[in-house]
Amino acid sequence: MFSMCGIVGHVSSEDSTRSEDVVMGGLARLEYRGYDSAGIAVGSSTGMTVVKAVGKLENLKAELATAGDLSGRGAIGHTRWATHGQPTTANAHPHTSLDGDLVLVHNGIIENAQTLRTSLQAEGYKFVSDTDTEVVVHLLAREFLADDEEGDRFGREVEIHGVPQDARGTAGALARAMNRVMRWIDGTFTLLAMHAEAPGVIVAARRSSPLVIGLGEGENYLGSDALAFCEHTHDALEVGQDQLVVVTATDVTVADIDGNQVQPKKLTVDFTHDRASKDGWPTYMEKEIHEQPRAIADTLADRLDSEGYLTLDELRIPAQVLRTVDKMVIVACGTAAYAGQVARYAIEHWCRIPVEVELAHEFRYRDPVVTEKTLVVAISQSGETMDTIMAIRHAREQGAKVVAVVNTPGSTISRESDAVLLTHAGPEIAVASTKAFTAQITATYILGLYLAQVRGNKFIDEIQDYLDKLAEIPHKVETVLSRAETVRQTARMLAQETSVIYLGRHVGFPVALEGALKLKEIAYIHAEGFAAGELKHGPIALIEDGQVVIIIVPTPRRPQLHRKVVSNIQEVRARGARTIVIAEDGDNSVDDYADVVFRVPPTPTLYAPLLSVIPLQIFACELATAKELDVDQPRNLAKSVTVE
Ligand code: M6R
Repeated sequence: MFSMCGIVGHVSSEDSTRSEDVVMGGLARLEYRGYDSAGIAVGSSTGMTVVKAVGKLENLKAELATAGDLSGRGAIGHTRWATHGQPTTANAHPHTSLDGDLVLVHNGIIENAQTLRTSLQAEGYKFVSDTDTEVVVHLLAREFLADDEEGDRFGREVEIHGVPQDARGTAGALARAMNRVMRWIDGTFTLLAMHAEAPGVIVAARRSSPLVIGLGEGENYLGSDALAFCEHTHDALEVGQDQLVVVTATDVTVADIDGNQVQPKKLTVDFTHDRASKDGWPTYMEKEIHEQPRAIADTLADRLDSEGYLTLDELRIPAQVLRTVDKMVIVACGTAAYAGQVARYAIEHWCRIPVEVELAHEFRYRDPVVTEKTLVVAISQSGETMDTIMAIRHAREQGAKVVAVVNTPGSTISRESDAVLLTHAGPEIAVASTKAFTAQITATYILGLYLAQVRGNKFIDEIQDYLDKLAEIPHKVETVLSRAETVRQTARMLAQETSVIYLGRHVGFPVALEGALKLKEIAYIHAEGFAAGELKHGPIALIEDGQVVIIIVPTPRRPQLHRKVVSNIQEVRARGARTIVIAEDGDNSVDDYADVVFRVPPTPTLYAPLLSVIPLQIFACELATAKELDVDQPRNLAKSVTVE
């Protein structure tokens, strides 16, 4: 019934195939958001054409190849990730009004869809899909007609100011209808609608789902995120909560729910089309794994003032407020939460502030103790993860300040937080997160060092020393990447495994969890990460002859920690496990107990995850490739989880 999905729109002033090209190009870049089915509607002076197909975008392309001339002056497109209702052509978007004139794409969930559906059916509307979106298209069509014939059924007519006049007044009527529908529907949505009477006009609306506007010369764009149009323009506008947008080739009008025109915030899309393409790599995941030296370096860049103090320009929380913080809570999901778990070790050590790390979806429902003195850090690559959005809303309601560590400028999480610390990883397209993870650790470390500076936990020279060592990481990551072949060979040999166990201690524990997640999500192998110390409390019962265990060994310069992990390797070996060990160059104490060793350069303990995770990413990627799986778009997943 509902979807996460990618949405693209384009309008120009003359019929041509440009709209189809732009929308299909945008969908290709947004396909990571969902790939169960896809569709496009093109509006021209002669009417509306809708083409849809089940499966990946290439199926839609094949349909389009036989669809004839698709010239138009506007198009909307959609790539779907469904949680309810089969991925069928009928359920694919765009959805169409009964007369075929009005088309609509939707991302989000309409929570009162069932009630609305029942009342529309009582009025004689026939439904052809199982989606909640179809309710909206019928409501919109009904209100569009009511605008002409009967006036407002919702008791309050809102005039949308600033809407450009078209010959038949269609833009105004559609905008008014959309405004009424927005007030009628509950839930989350980004909606894009187009009417055959005015094919050069798109009317859009958003509530808690993402939407950005791209500004062109004599043409304009809409997208779930700026990747949709980054090839064509770098000038964009953010669309706020409960805002309505009317876009033509030459005008963009944004209004609030009361119809008042608002000035949207400008956004510069700072990544190029190249960064969003595979650039010669067989998969986005491989490309993104290899982009990590740059992602870390870019995230570290320009953080010092002329006197050597850390300055975080984006951090808009005053220093005196940061000094009163008595607890930090990191909220995130998936890989971002594991980055948060790594960050906890560093921040507690440097700042002596207690740090809790909580899965965003659990945080909100357990009545957490959050006060004005709590600093909440929300980590998210997309900035659109609904669970994380709901967690930060809850935290702010309790008076906490929220810092967002996000990779997507202008995203909902960055807009709804008190301060933003950007990871400069560039667009991450592969569903499995890689460069975002290392960039998130880097950014949270910068945050930790900044807090240590502001709160006086560390002297400036100490902070400088930590930063200098952090600055060496990109080069060390290059070294790890240059050793990838051993990892690849091992992965290929293990392609038939059905279970892999990952063990780590201290910062190696979240790395073990992250390694296991990578293998699960792209290679479909059951994988579990455990704290190595937990082994004897249960998981060791899983070890039998031939079980593959990957162990992340800390530096021998932390002898106590190191010794314990080496003992853990021996314990699993003694029970028949095949062991793959990640260890520092020169640490020969592991050689006797390892079937294979993946080597990483020596580095301070807290920075080790930035290196030890790399072989685990390569391992999962190569193993999934050996199994001939779709590395970038694994089954059942989508890149941005924009519904709870
Ligand atoms: O966009 P976000 O960082 O908020 O996404 C959080 C998780 O959904 C994400 O990290 C997910 O776990 C990845 N697919 C893992 O590779």
